[in-house]
Amino acid sequence: MSANIKVLAISGSLRLKSYNTALLESAKVLRPENMEIEIFSLKDIPLYNEDVEKEGFPESVKIFKDKIAKSDSLLIASPEYNYSFTGVLKNAIDWASRPASDSPLKKKPYAIMGVSGGNSGTIRSQMHFRQVALFNDMAGMNKPEVYVTNGKSKFNEKNELTDEPTILHLRKFLTALYDWTLLNKSR
Ligand SMILES: Cc1cc2nc3c(=O)[nH]c(=O)nc-3n(C[C@H](O)[C@H](O)[C@H](O)COP(=O)(O)O)c2cc1C
Repeated sequence: MSANIKVLAISGSLRLKSYNTALLESAKVLRPENMEIEIFSLKDIPLYNEDVEKEGFPESVKIFKDKIAKSDSLLIASPEYNYSFTGVLKNAIDWASRPASDSPLKKKPYAIMGVSGGNSGTIRSQMHFRQVALFNDMAGMNKPEVYVTNGKSKFNEKNELTDEPTILHLRKFLTALYDWTLLNKSR
């Protein structure tokens, strides 16, 4: 029997009908048997302020950091905003990275994917995220990659992923994340 792993899924979009959040919802459906996926919303994470950090971490940030610490890996889906990942996600990573001596991001395995409205598939957004992850000493899965283009054409009116090639590819991606997480756990 293979081991169970817990994945914390984070969307870089707060939009109610977000395709990136919908991709995470699809991952919950398509996940391998022994993978548990919890989606954590960033909607209650305040803007980072070092003065606030010194006074004490906000409750929502404490919960976020604790959920990262207790997860075996992270699954991130972010839109591309102005050739980068979203400020919402960057802000959350900034909080989670503090203080550096107690960062749950350190060595944390993660995989990133994304949906764009147009043809880019969030390539530049993902590359920027990898740079930030590098500073935080996170363990990024390099391959396979998921770049979902033309979001509107890949989801139905209920925001369910309906594009067969993307569904197949997402299954492979999640299996690879399962293996990558176990490999990192055994190190
Ligand atoms: C502020 C802003 C900046 C954007 N910049 C880009 C961009 O640089 N590249 C791109 O492909 N799409 C860009 N888009 C379009 C997003 O890809 C599209 O809105 C996408 O559906 C957002 O993801 P969501 O559905 O998860 O909210 C931008 C959208 C917004 C609101």
